[in-house]
Amino acid sequence: MTNFTDNFTLRAHNTFGLEATARHWAEFRTVDELRTVIRDCHTRHLPWYVLSGGSNVILTGNFPGCVIHPTSDGITQLGPDLLRAEAGVVWDDLVAWTVDRGLGGLENLSFIPGLVGAAPVQNIGAYGAEAKDTIETVEYFDTERLETVRIPGAECAFGYRDSLFKGPLRGRAIVTAVEFRLTPEQTADGETSYTYNIGYGDLHDRVMSLGGPSLANVRAAVIAIRREKLPDPAVAGNAGSFFKNPVIPAAQAAQLRERYPEMPGYPSADGQTVKVPAAWLIDRAGWKGFRCGTVGVHPRQALVLINLGGATAQEILNLARRIIDDVDQKFGIRLSMEVNIL
Ligand code: EPU
Repeated sequence: MTNFTDNFTLRAHNTFGLEATARHWAEFRTVDELRTVIRDCHTRHLPWYVLSGGSNVILTGNFPGCVIHPTSDGITQLGPDLLRAEAGVVWDDLVAWTVDRGLGGLENLSFIPGLVGAAPVQNIGAYGAEAKDTIETVEYFDTERLETVRIPGAECAFGYRDSLFKGPLRGRAIVTAVEFRLTPEQTADGETSYTYNIGYGDLHDRVMSLGGPSLANVRAAVIAIRREKLPDPAVAGNAGSFFKNPVIPAAQAAQLRERYPEMPGYPSADGQTVKVPAAWLIDRAGWKGFRCGTVGVHPRQALVLINLGGATAQEILNLARRIIDDVDQKFGIRLSMEVNIL
């Protein structure tokens, strides 16, 4: 039987700092423990939801079922460039671990909040890198077959903040571990042959100002940029980027550029579409730094909505809707939310 904790407050488990309770809360460290939790949920007809770091979720009310939280925290080196991290490892602890051991691939993803188990679900990304670039295998628990499944990264249908786990496996799979294929920064004879990925935005200049490329300097530069631009949830509750960057047809981007020649955009490889920064659209529409009661738009990054103190989910979602409608009216682009709504 599972050791459920009843009427569990989720306030400290979501970075927006929203008040909500779970009817039951259960933690798992091993797959056997998880199997017991899921069996008990099936028997008692309880809906379940996995809350990992709570850094990308809006809790709209009390959850009537069981909120499941991974606490498994091991990192194991499986080979010179292959490692395994359990779902409950703090993501940035993993990045620090790899950088300390001279293994490249995760350094651009430094300081992203959350736990390892959420990384493949969202295909987390930053500064020109995405989790999918290094994910070799995802191990998940299939809650229908009650068994562990291993799936190669190449079969996870990874896309921009998207994967199989947000599609066909949503509500069925619970990620229990992820294996990463990394690249040693130095070869056996001490040569550095690693290609640092520092072309994005002002990352290159930051890395140079720290003394030039190295895994440690890329990590330090990314942390410094994120600290400057993104609000600390301990100071103002937030869930990082609230919206996805929209992908629009190239013809529409060209039309918009006639009106807004300075509009940034990243064309797809086939030239058919352009990804436009939602932050630029929201900023240009005049919302950056906007405050209304308990909610606002971060003054240094327009993509981030913030809880100014005591906000409810409804207040945050109302602001999000106003922004979506206004951006639609001004640019003909309908933003979609990046955060998960529970
Ligand atoms: N911009 C503005 N106004 C702003 C902020 C940005 O005009 O207030 C413009 C910038 O000038 C730049 C463009 O928007 O041309 C892109 O800005 P930035 O490089 O800050 O990145 P982003 O597209 O806004 C994405 C991710 C972030 C990630 C950064 C850095 C999404 C939804 N967001 O933001 O991820 O850290 O790139 O790689 O893709 C997250 O997912 O929670 C997150 C923070």
